[in-house]
Amino acid sequence: MNILSAAHPLSGPTSDAPLVRALRGDRPDTVPVWFMRQAGRSLPEYRALRAEHRMLDACLNPELASEITLQPVRRHGVDAAVFFSDIVVPLKLVGVDVDLVAGRGPVFSEPLRTAADVAKHRKEFTADRLREALDPVREAVARTTEELGNTPLIGFAGAPFTLAAYLVEGGPSRDHLRARTLMHSDPETWQSLLDWVAELDAVFLEAQVEAGASAVQLFDSWAGSLSVADYREHVAPASRKALESVRATHYAHPTLHGYADRPLNVPVIHFAVGSGHLLEELADIGVSALGVDWRTPLDEASARLGDAVPLQGNLDPAYLGASPEVLKSHLEDVLERGRRAPAHILNLGHGVPPETDPDTLTRIVELAHAWSDAS
Ligand code: CP3
Repeated sequence: MNILSAAHPLSGPTSDAPLVRALRGDRPDTVPVWFMRQAGRSLPEYRALRAEHRMLDACLNPELASEITLQPVRRHGVDAAVFFSDIVVPLKLVGVDVDLVAGRGPVFSEPLRTAADVAKHRKEFTADRLREALDPVREAVARTTEELGNTPLIGFAGAPFTLAAYLVEGGPSRDHLRARTLMHSDPETWQSLLDWVAELDAVFLEAQVEAGASAVQLFDSWAGSLSVADYREHVAPASRKALESVRATHYAHPTLHGYADRPLNVPVIHFAVGSGHLLEELADIGVSALGVDWRTPLDEASARLGDAVPLQGNLDPAYLGASPEVLKSHLEDVLERGRRAPAHILNLGHGVPPETDPDTLTRIVELAHAWSDAS
């Protein structure tokens, strides 16, 4: 078990933040709002900072990563920050040769295709080695949470399936056929691969939580390409394992007789794109809230989950370019449908498209907060 000795934002300043309350199943007075990819290319101040740094260099520069994380909080007044990093950062830090190529995606010089490839990676790129390389991430998170005060920071990781899909394919692919073929042609190697990625995820998430993140989100961007049966049998156990370190984090709580260990209960959000058929499975790995993409209305998603799971989402990014009236009525529809869930966190149904006018995002935050005040 991992015990934090210093005060953690989640046991103090962020414990009553609307986002944290919603993730615990409460309905705060105002609906919390944040946007996936809120830090990024939609902001001119981001583009200016990034002009001189490659993506992965920026992620590993604590001062820069912290500044980029804070930019959308200052500009939009969102209810949470999301840590500026990328799902491939733990792989890069442990020594895997990967680059992020704008307009293309993550590119790996040595795709993992065989049992021998997987065994070699497992042996060389261990969780312990990652733990030793995470100082830039710890420092960036610590700086950021100090600046954020009572606004929570959401840490994240890419889920084992999504990362494994990149590792096997060697880069982006349409239907992840090579990865899904390995799953069935050599299930043992597949399981070993997912297990290894889950260990790296656990260490990456643990570092963010230790350094002050108040919640984490597991992004399974490509899980939508899986059948329900394959998700359940070949993927869910690894995603559950990736979250173990988060669940195991405790903190030292002062009592009359010294300190006692208490579970920090860091809330976990789980999100996958195009995964309407998987909602029950995605919720079943043990989550505080489920992110829903724009294809499934929130009231329908809630009904399927027995109205027992807080939901996050699910504005359709396509509406960000529509007229203010059309966008407002879509927003109100999403907020109304979100009432059915035990709690609702407003977000998009996928990341902010780079061409989005940032003023549109600020306006959504204002409208959602005003809607909460009026209802
Ligand atoms: O909300 C968040 O910010 C969550 C974190 C997150 C990022 N990327 C941050 C990011 C997540 C979950 C990703 C996933 C990711 N990264 C995918 C999966 C698809 C998806 O949308 O879920 C892919 C293909 C990547 C790879 C990637 N990331 C590339 C190719 C690039 C561009 C490289 C460059 O030089 O700019 C990125 C950049 C990236 N990842 C940014 C952020 C905030 C910054 C720039 C942007 O707005 O895209």
